[in-house]
Formats: sequence, structure tokens, C-alpha cells
Amino acid sequence: MPGYVIANWKMYKTKKEALEFAEGLKDGLSQGGVVVGVSPAFPYLETLSNAFRGVDRVCVFAQNVAFAEAGAFTGEVSASMIEDAGAKGVIIGHSERRHVFKEDPSWMVKKIQLALDRELVVVYCVGETLEERDLGVGPEVVSRQLAEGLGGLEDESKASIRSKETLVIAYEPVWAIGTGRNMEPIEAKEAASLIKKNVSELLEGYVPPVLYGGSVNPRNIQGFAGHFEIDGVLVGGASLDLGRFLPLIKAFERA
Ligand code: PGA
Repeated sequence: MPGYVIANWKMYKTKKEALEFAEGLKDGLSQGGVVVGVSPAFPYLETLSNAFRGVDRVCVFAQNVAFAEAGAFTGEVSASMIEDAGAKGVIIGHSERRHVFKEDPSWMVKKIQLALDRELVVVYCVGETLEERDLGVGPEVVSRQLAEGLGGLEDESKASIRSKETLVIAYEPVWAIGTGRNMEPIEAKEAASLIKKNVSELLEGYVPPVLYGGSVNPRNIQGFAGHFEIDGVLVGGASLDLGRFLPLIKAFERA
């Protein structure tokens, strides 16, 4: 099971900036096992997929996908379109999609199913809000989100996740995203263990890579990389600048 260090650029970077970053990333990468993900805005998926052609360890991810394959859904982008653009995976259920854009929990399984049908690697995001954490219901919230996204998948897709390892979970406590306030690595490690157990029950033995996300930076990365239960990170702010992103990759190039 590979580790993943994934940049989520959100609505940042022009085409020129994205291409400059891509060139710098190719130059800065050493040999290593961890998969490096780059998630640009939709219009640049194809440009970046082309820029990384032949660089096997870099995967381009979309930041979202529609819950339907085609139809009258203004502003949406389907899994086939993402595949056509050359991307290898997609982030689903990011906290900003759930909370800012009010995505319904019932859409998650549909999105994941369609992405898997196109053989895209799914990074499914889960995590509790500050209010839920204060109420002490964080683990229940995460279990519910996992069940909502994975419980109803077709048996064939569950089997394909097991054989191709195409599902990654990103644990991102909502209160830690973009706030400069990261979760303590020991707590993230405990959450990662619980998620692995939960997913393995839902998917008959499949233990996914679990990434931590939420205010990760070069100063706090060692704390997360030091726990073998944490298989990588999903990074917003610190992924916009190569000087801050490369050390995060290095931290997970562990033996
Ligand atoms: P952040 O974002 O690193 O800026 O907290 C993480 C994310 O949104 O995935």
C-alpha cells in the first residue's frame, strides 16, 4: 500500500503558475515510493496531466466530481470527463464541498461509485466539525460518513477496491482546515487506526491508506510522518509553494 502526499490547490493558481510548479516539482522529486498528488482546478486537469506524462509517481486529481454521469446539471463535471482529461483520481467529500456548498451526504456513495467505474483513485474525505468534537461525537461522525460513502457500493466495486487499492481516506477535522491549528499527531494516529478498522469492516478486509489533512506544514510534518498508521497527508495552504511542499514529500519517503 503506497503512501500519498497530495496537494489540494483549491481555487488557486493560474495555468502559468500551475505549469511552473509542475516543472519545479519534476526537478525537485527524488526517487521514492510515496505517490505525489496534484489537484488543480478543473480547467487545468488536462494541462497538468500532460505536464506529468511519463512521471509515474505523480498523479493528477480532480477536486470534485458530479453525482451523475451526464444530464442537466449546470456547472458539474462527470467522472468520464475527468478521466478524459487524463486525471488519475478525484477528491470526494472535501469539507468545503460538504459545508460551504452544502453537498448532501447521500451524494457521496454515488460520486464514489461513478469514479470507481471510471477506474479513478478516490480520496474520500471525512472529519468532524469543532462543535461535534466538543460534544465528543467525532468518532461517530466519521463512522457515519464512512458508512454513507462506502456501505452502499456495488459488490463488484468493493472487490475492485480490494484488488486495485483504489480507495484512500483523508481524515480532515474541519476545525483544522486552513486555520493554522493542526490536530495533535497522536490524536490523528488514533483516528487513522479507527478509520482503518471501520473501512475494513465495510469493505470486507480492505485496509485503506489514511491521510491526515488540516494545517500541515514543514514544521509539524514530522509528527504525522512518525506514525506508521498515517500514510500521508492532504495539503491545502502549504501545497501552493514548492519550497513548503517538497519537505512534506520528503518526510513521507520513509523506509
Ligand atoms: P490546509 O487545507 O492544509 O490549508 O489546512 C487542507 C485541505 O483542505 O485539504
